[in-house]
Amino acid sequence: MNNVEFASTGVQISEMCLGTMMFGDRCDETESALVLNTALENGVNFVDTAASYCNGKTEEILGRLLKGKRDQIFLGTKVTRSTDADWILQSLDESLTRLQTDYIDLYMIHWPREQMNVTAMMEALNKTVVAGKALFIGCCNFPAWLVAHCNAIAERNCWAKLINNQIPYNLIERGVEVEVLPQAIAENIAITTYRPLLAGILAGKYKPDEAIPEDSRGSTDKRIPVWLEKFADGLRKYHAFAEERNLHPAQLSVAWLRKSEGVTAPVIGVSSARQLAASLAAFDYDLTDDEYEQVNGMFDTAVKEETGGNYPNLRRMTTLIAK
Ligand SMILES: NC(=O)c1ccc[n+]([C@@H]2O[C@H](COP(=O)([O-])OP(=O)(O)OC[C@H]3O[C@@H](n4cnc5c(N)ncnc54)[C@H](OP(=O)(O)O)[C@@H]3O)[C@@H](O)[C@H]2O)c1
Repeated sequence: MNNVEFASTGVQISEMCLGTMMFGDRCDETESALVLNTALENGVNFVDTAASYCNGKTEEILGRLLKGKRDQIFLGTKVTRSTDADWILQSLDESLTRLQTDYIDLYMIHWPREQMNVTAMMEALNKTVVAGKALFIGCCNFPAWLVAHCNAIAERNCWAKLINNQIPYNLIERGVEVEVLPQAIAENIAITTYRPLLAGILAGKYKPDEAIPEDSRGSTDKRIPVWLEKFADGLRKYHAFAEERNLHPAQLSVAWLRKSEGVTAPVIGVSSARQLAASLAAFDYDLTDDEYEQVNGMFDTAVKEETGGNYPNLRRMTTLIAK
């Protein structure tokens, strides 16, 4: 497992982030301990959670499991429900209590909200840093213009800036290639990518034309049958490609993400330690440029731009600014 710098902080994190959304949900506490310890033994030091996962139960489990290990971990959590200043401060205190720690390495806004007061939100986030309760701040699911807007406000007020954007990114959901990834590269914003396996579809958990397994997220997540039907042709090619190379499908998807420009760390979520092995193996497998391009084109899901002229991919270009 390689380490990489987190944004421009000087802090080294593993290039895999362990996601814990299934801790306390499909993954009981014993299995969660096994998942966490397996990740740590394999060099992972970056763990992602959120106040909202299992209504706080996930953070409570992590608090117990991280006892004696907290200082080895770069820990991120999120404030959900609202971006109001009071709630940002209160939710962090509640997370600290559940996680049994005095500080969070990365405190993130989980989702933007309509009619949000960005200045008050950034001021509250800055207070968490000044108080030493958060070392760094970030966001999830923010469009690029909103990150730029928040950080312009922070700069004018000498407040802490957002240094991370956690976004959904996988071979099928590729909207973030437009502006979000180019912005991250230009501004050195750490990009952590969630849903790397499209909730299990890219892990071979489901196959086109086969029944959804009962013991799966697909038995309740209504998006899964829709995606399976829509991308059936691409999925057949994808599975054949993985099989020819003796790769687990999850390994192939995570290896593709690792090689994608602008990605700092995929956020790997599993419901068992057995599942984790396939994603961990991706960090030992480097796709060749040719393999990367083949996988890249397999689903025809890259956003098509209509700008024309000299720069048909203007909003996806990462080479406009000289480094
Ligand atoms: N910031 C945000 O808004 C946001 C949103 C969502 C998630 N996240 C973070 O991102 C993490 C990952 O998200 P995600 O869980 O949606 O990711 P994902 O990788 O797309 O889906 C994970 C699911 O894929 C299946 N899976 C994983 N490895 C497998 C394997 N080797 N074989 C077969 N199936 C496998 C499991 O499904 P089954 O459980 O059905 O077996 C697992 O729960 C979360 O834990 C969380 O930390 C953040």
